[in-house]
Amino acid sequence: MAKSNEVQEKYGKGDTKWFVQDRFGMFIHWGLYSQPARHEWVRNYEHIKNEDYEKYFEIFNPDLYEPKEWARMAKNAGMKYFVITTKHHEGFCLWDTKYTDYKAPNTPCGKDLLTPMVKAFRDEGLKVGFYYSLIDWHHSEFPVDSRHPQRDDQEFRKKEKKRDVRKYAEYMHNQVRELLTDFGHIDIMWFDFSYPGKDGKGHEDWQSEKLIKMIRKLQPHIILDDRLDLPGSGDIKTPEQYVPTEGVKDEKGKPLVWEGCQTFSGSWGYHRDENTWKSNAMLIQMLIDHVSKGGNLLLNVGPTARGEFDYRAIEKLSAMGEWMKRHNRSIYGCTYAPNGLKAPQDCRYTYNPETKRLYLHLFAWPFKAVHLPEMGGKIKYAQLLNDASEIRFRDEKSNVHVASTGLSAKTPSGALTLEIPTIKPPVEVPVIEMFLK
Ligand code: GLC
Repeated sequence: MAKSNEVQEKYGKGDTKWFVQDRFGMFIHWGLYSQPARHEWVRNYEHIKNEDYEKYFEIFNPDLYEPKEWARMAKNAGMKYFVITTKHHEGFCLWDTKYTDYKAPNTPCGKDLLTPMVKAFRDEGLKVGFYYSLIDWHHSEFPVDSRHPQRDDQEFRKKEKKRDVRKYAEYMHNQVRELLTDFGHIDIMWFDFSYPGKDGKGHEDWQSEKLIKMIRKLQPHIILDDRLDLPGSGDIKTPEQYVPTEGVKDEKGKPLVWEGCQTFSGSWGYHRDENTWKSNAMLIQMLIDHVSKGGNLLLNVGPTARGEFDYRAIEKLSAMGEWMKRHNRSIYGCTYAPNGLKAPQDCRYTYNPETKRLYLHLFAWPFKAVHLPEMGGKIKYAQLLNDASEIRFRDEKSNVHVASTGLSAKTPSGALTLEIPTIKPPVEVPVIEMFLK
């Protein structure tokens, strides 16, 4: 305990109260990599040198960029905040930074792309998060390491031996100060990422302690992620591309604030030919699954180089919005079920401790009945959330006797049986809302 207080004092603590209520956010990965359209790591995967990547900078012109439309789509999907890659590993900056020429205003697009985006999302009532890449493959003082596009080019490594990570850190700190000074109230600062050890980089390279101090001074409420390589720092845990089986907890089993970041398909940046897009049902189930384990879902969109959302993302966001319109009560303000209560097979619980309502999400639609262990005698009323139609229920005492066989449709001991319609309601994932006694 003393230890976590110490760490807290040392690194400060952001305001996560809104975050654990809001539950659902949009990640946006947008940069020059939307032009090759082969993953935002394309420079690394294909060992592309600065000179050869330059062509993208020279023609970048997202002429159809309409941030108000992006913000509207996020809002309609039920998202409450967004996190934008102000700079990704490629080093390209979306805003009009003083500290480099490698920025959107110097491309044919000729303007700062970040300011109007922040305004548009704020106008729709969404909170604002900045992703900032610690890694920078373009900067001339960023020492070549195991992740660098030219990692295997021994001659280049020799030639660039004198790169000074302290100069790079100064650049980075300056940019972070700029981001947290020129754009008003920022809710989340999302750094990515550390890989300490041989031929890697960690907190000493980034000067993470100093960085955190500056951030807490500039925006004390801000939520910081956990990727600065300083154990105990950061307000949120950030599992990526998987859902932790039991949520995220500390060594003593105390639940921590966490946010899973996930993609629609296998890439964060716009990827034209990547086809592993998750189905609408799977995406909705993913959101529910995160919340049922006490977490948030940050779901990523990779806009195209013309400045539009990927058409596949548009379709999926709208399907999620359709579902959220009728079911967001089982998401906002909700968390895992109380007292370690376990949901039956193919189901997930979420729970709103304020309203004392328990939500049963049915990933598969069973025949006639759902039995809820340990729930006998605990609820006042149950209804389907999509149309507020009553769901009748019974417990052991009110078992149904089926004539002619002598058998009965029994409720297991201590359980509650919900009597559900034969036909699955016309929604991707039906939810039964239960009012606890
Ligand atoms: C990884 C990748 C990166 C992506 C991030 C999102 O760390 O490096 O491309 O931005 O995950 O969490």
